[in-house]
Amino acid sequence: MNLSDVSLTIDAFPLAIAKKKGISLWIARADKVHPLASGNKLYKLLPNIEYAKQHNYSQLLSFGGAFSNHIHALALYSTSVGLQSVAVIRGEKEYALNPTLSAAIKAGMKLEFVDRASYKRRHDADYLQQLQQQYPDALIIPEGGSSELALQGCTELMQQMNHSCLLQKNSMPDVIAVACGTGMTFSGLVNGAKSHQTIQGYLVLKDHSVYQKVDSLLEKYTQNKNYKIQPADFGGYAKFDAALLSFILDILEQTQVLLDPIYTSKMCRCVIQQIEAGRFKAGSKLLMLHSGGLQAWYGMKDKVIRIAGHKAWQEIVVYL
Ligand SMILES: Cc1ncc(COP(=O)(O)O)c(C=O)c1O
Repeated sequence: MNLSDVSLTIDAFPLAIAKKKGISLWIARADKVHPLASGNKLYKLLPNIEYAKQHNYSQLLSFGGAFSNHIHALALYSTSVGLQSVAVIRGEKEYALNPTLSAAIKAGMKLEFVDRASYKRRHDADYLQQLQQQYPDALIIPEGGSSELALQGCTELMQQMNHSCLLQKNSMPDVIAVACGTGMTFSGLVNGAKSHQTIQGYLVLKDHSVYQKVDSLLEKYTQNKNYKIQPADFGGYAKFDAALLSFILDILEQTQVLLDPIYTSKMCRCVIQQIEAGRFKAGSKLLMLHSGGLQAWYGMKDKVIRIAGHKAWQEIVVYL
């Protein structure tokens, strides 16, 4: 599969508040692009896989936390195209039993668990060299899949969103909202956007070094300055509580779209707060990217049941 084979749909996101404020609100269903690698993951992985094949690598090696969407997608998708996969995971071996990592192991991924101090070295040249010696046939991909090849994939994602909006809605969006972790997806969108479009990023981590990293990366690629990132961590990365769950269930009821518990729900919560506060002009066309990540719900199952009971879990699971 190549990026040009990916089919991306734009859906209306019929929220009463958007209608009231005169805003056309749409959602790009990247969560539906592939059953094994959903959302931004497919757009990041495909260019890396193409590079690996061209350069005769037989393995992909990457880094992630124990519930990482990227590790899950890497494991499942790379096996399907005949590549082996290895992951360096932050945390204890016991995590191998969680739904994300057990699916990765089942797909054939080899896991190496490291403590926090070792994981911090994931960008260091000497550590990477050591790993390369240990896995000479592996293409090493940074955490989150966020290599500069991934930036090219996410540039294409922006172009596909515009193309699909033109086909389905007869016009392009003015503002594109995207959840940020490493900021690579956001950077690709900025790189691929038209000059009249603004890319609005919502940072779900407390690590504010992302702002600086994005600025210096984008300086290399584009003159486009129509972008902004703002905090959207709601208590910290992967912090999930009754208020967030109730927000997600309410959105699900209004739109029939299930957001993920870590990235897109926090982005959407901020977007709605901004719509309520009159931050977007009447007549604006606002597109949110559903960047996937739904597999993370399986790791939240017990929490969901504890907070809101079995019925809430059943409402969610039909969309997984
Ligand atoms: C579902 C989902 N959305 C958004 C992001 C953020 O992507 P990026 O790291 O490119 O900023 C991630 C990253 O892992 C993700 O899994």
